[in-house]
Amino acid sequence: MSNDALANLLSEDRVFPPSADFAAQANASSEMYDEAAADRLAFWAEQARYLTWEREFDEILDWSDAPFARWFSGGTLNVAYNCVDRHVENGFGTQVAIRFEGEPGDRRDITYAELKDEVCKAANALLELGVASGDRVAIYMPMIPEAIVAMLACARIGAAHSVVFAGFSSEALRSRIDDAQAVVVITADGQNRRGSAMPLKPAVDEAVSQTPTVTNVLVVRRTGSDVDWDDSRDVWWHDIVDRQSPDHTPEAFDAEHPLFILYTSGTTGKPKGILHTSGGYLTQAAFTHRNVFDLKPDDDIYWCTADIGWVTGHSYIVYGPLANRVTQVVYEGTPDTPGKDRWWDIVERHKVSIFYTAPTAIRTFMKWGDELPQSHDLSSLRLLGSVGEPINPEAWMWYRDVIGSGTCPIVDTWWQTETGAIMISPLPGVTACKPGSAMGPLPGIGMAVVDDNQVPVGNGGGGYLVLTEPWPSMLRGIWGDPERFKETYWSRFAGMYFAGDGAKLDNDGAIWLLGRVDDVMNVSGHRISTTEVESALVSHEAVAEAAVVGATDETTGQGIVAFVILRGGVPEETATGEQLVKDLRDHVATEIGPIAKPRQIMVVPELPKTRSGKIMRRLLRDVAEHRDMGDVTTLADPTVMNLIATGLDAGSDED
Ligand code: WT7
Repeated sequence: MSNDALANLLSEDRVFPPSADFAAQANASSEMYDEAAADRLAFWAEQARYLTWEREFDEILDWSDAPFARWFSGGTLNVAYNCVDRHVENGFGTQVAIRFEGEPGDRRDITYAELKDEVCKAANALLELGVASGDRVAIYMPMIPEAIVAMLACARIGAAHSVVFAGFSSEALRSRIDDAQAVVVITADGQNRRGSAMPLKPAVDEAVSQTPTVTNVLVVRRTGSDVDWDDSRDVWWHDIVDRQSPDHTPEAFDAEHPLFILYTSGTTGKPKGILHTSGGYLTQAAFTHRNVFDLKPDDDIYWCTADIGWVTGHSYIVYGPLANRVTQVVYEGTPDTPGKDRWWDIVERHKVSIFYTAPTAIRTFMKWGDELPQSHDLSSLRLLGSVGEPINPEAWMWYRDVIGSGTCPIVDTWWQTETGAIMISPLPGVTACKPGSAMGPLPGIGMAVVDDNQVPVGNGGGGYLVLTEPWPSMLRGIWGDPERFKETYWSRFAGMYFAGDGAKLDNDGAIWLLGRVDDVMNVSGHRISTTEVESALVSHEAVAEAAVVGATDETTGQGIVAFVILRGGVPEETATGEQLVKDLRDHVATEIGPIAKPRQIMVVPELPKTRSGKIMRRLLRDVAEHRDMGDVTTLADPTVMNLIATGLDAGSDED
């Protein structure tokens, strides 16, 4: 099948234009595209002026040392001041910033005035511990308000934070502390997970015993568990922070002052420390949050279900939302505790109006059935967002119909740790959406889909997603490794940022993200995305979730192997029968074409996922190709692989 034929299959017939009501009140407007097209840099300068600068910038973009960008040169600002103090100064001190909900059910509202005091006290505590502007501080914390306070306290004194997801191992923490040469680690005794207290400090103790740069460990008491204590190094948060003055004068830093480092995996083993700086990052995080989520700070209750350990938590829990004076829900725990309706219970009680989550969660809820969300009043919701992986049309429709009562606009937002903020997304109230498509680049963003020779593919074509112009929140480099930065992102296509994703433009020019390019299969010389096959499988009524890999095949180059989880309610006889597998293969053939028919389909109870919820296709490929599975330590549940491998051996090839 030709690329064009494949692209045709991707062009959705269903189009959902914005409702007149939504459009009438939307923050975004179609003029934004025109304005940015007429003068991109002036457009970004205008967005930067939503922030409060201590000193106005002299130059919008300095690209003379490309690919090392400098945005808003000469400007100075304090990021924490922009996220907290200025709202208090503007008379919003009593507005609730954070509505915290702990997993055990404890609740705590924190106003902007209270947040300001807490951030100042934490900043003063860090100064007392000897942390200075330019230092690095590692943060290894649960989703509790102190995590946000800790990040803002670092920003306030000009120390770059490096948040390490609390689900990572002590070895992962150690290597990140080491790479960034962090001087302080902020952590907690433990976190609440599925009804029990999970310790955190032991992992820090182990990591820090091998990292000579760390002078102090600051520990928040969360679970009350016993912890080992080193008096020369460990300090309780409540001992040192609570006795500090709530006054701290924020210093204005250069627009390019480092704000944070966040590690993300690359194709090699060593995680990359992605560096983000202050002025450009905050400009784009706030701009996108305001317009893509249509935030109305006086009315909305916003909830992003991400963890601060990922970039989504940085840009869309901490920096973008707080810069925009959000009122937001912060939830500590998992979606299934105490029941599988915990999220919908939270939406109902807090009257959440803007909700941002990941397709993997959406598909999990589909699997759990419609009754759980339908047993709650979700009528407060007015906008839904998706991020992290392609959202298949069926999941998009379910999200819209079952969660969004068939009326909420959905924004499918494409971006990366490296981009710092959303790059490709519909604008709610402006863009007519197709289920499964992220539609197009935001105003001010240069994007193209190019072929191997860097030629733009045009509508109906597929290739590599590239970003053609520098953007304010772009990564400024890989910490300590400028060569790797150039090599990874800027060497494949001259003068363009290579995102590592495959994409297609449909006949209307809407973009369809097809996953990482290493997830694109080649079957008999035809390119087929794992995502396309997964979408086809999930569109079958019996399937809740699917993962597809290309396994080496003597005849066809690669053969497609699919792992599927069935929806709740599929009868046992059907679930275990040969007929279902045949039906699914035929269904894929009908949806995409015989070429995309999986060689093998495995019905499995679970899929191997990282703790951040990404399906680990590498492991599935290893199973499909009968290889040893290697390291499974980053899996949320390593036993899943045994279940799958056992089942696969029992399964048989067809045709
Ligand atoms: C990769 C970046 C951005 C926050 C979470 C992930 C994939 C992300 C989408 C989307 C299709 C998406 C891409 C990208 N991705 N959003 N809306 N549609 N794919 O951040 O861990 O840095 O991963 O996630 O493959 O390259 P990340």
